Amino acid sequence: MELARYIRDIPDWPKAGILFRDITPLLANPQALRAAVDAMCAPYKDAGIAHVAAVEARGFIFGTAVAARLNAGFVPIRKKGKLPFETESITYDLEYGTDTLEIHRDAVPAGAKVLMVDDLLATGGTMKAACDLIEKVQGHIVGITCLIELADLQGRPRLAPHTIHTVISY
Ligand code: PRP
Ligand code: ADE
Repeated sequence: MELARYIRDIPDWPKAGILFRDITPLLANPQALRAAVDAMCAPYKDAGIAHVAAVEARGFIFGTAVAARLNAGFVPIRKKGKLPFETESITYDLEYGTDTLEIHRDAVPAGAKVLMVDDLLATGGTMKAACDLIEKVQGHIVGITCLIELADLQGRPRLAPHTIHTVISY
């Protein structure tokens, strides 16, 4: 299945110069959604993943689906001020702005095998911050999986030495 057919390009959104890759047509199509989740999981099926971690909001869409598919638990990483228990936090740069992310201190047991998930890898700033948070709470990152990669933005080198799998690359 040609999944890129279900990604809609929106020029100059949310601001001039950004070509936004809109995943909502893919999410709305049952076959495309299932194929996307399957493709994101494929390299990690037998990796013994105990937990999947993802950042709100779009990361949650795929994070929970991937977790259920891999029989793993789900760990939410949220924007500042949303998590109710004790947290670790980190501030990071976006392709368009900055933000602060938080995770619960007891999110995973020490050494737990964690798979990092997001819809899209751009500069890698969000994923780097998410990985740093998982490592702060003693999780062991087995790999990263994203539906889309914007290769020009050089997210991969920023995330070295982690293993990165992406399904659609622009
Ligand atoms: C988007 C996307 C990734 C991130 C990628 O999230 O879902 O998490 O940007 O960009 P980066 O690799 O340059 O960090 P966004 O912050 O727009 O939030 P959203 O999921 O709430 O829409
Ligand atoms: N997140 C960061 N950059 C993006 C882009 N160009 N399209 C969709 N989501 C994004």
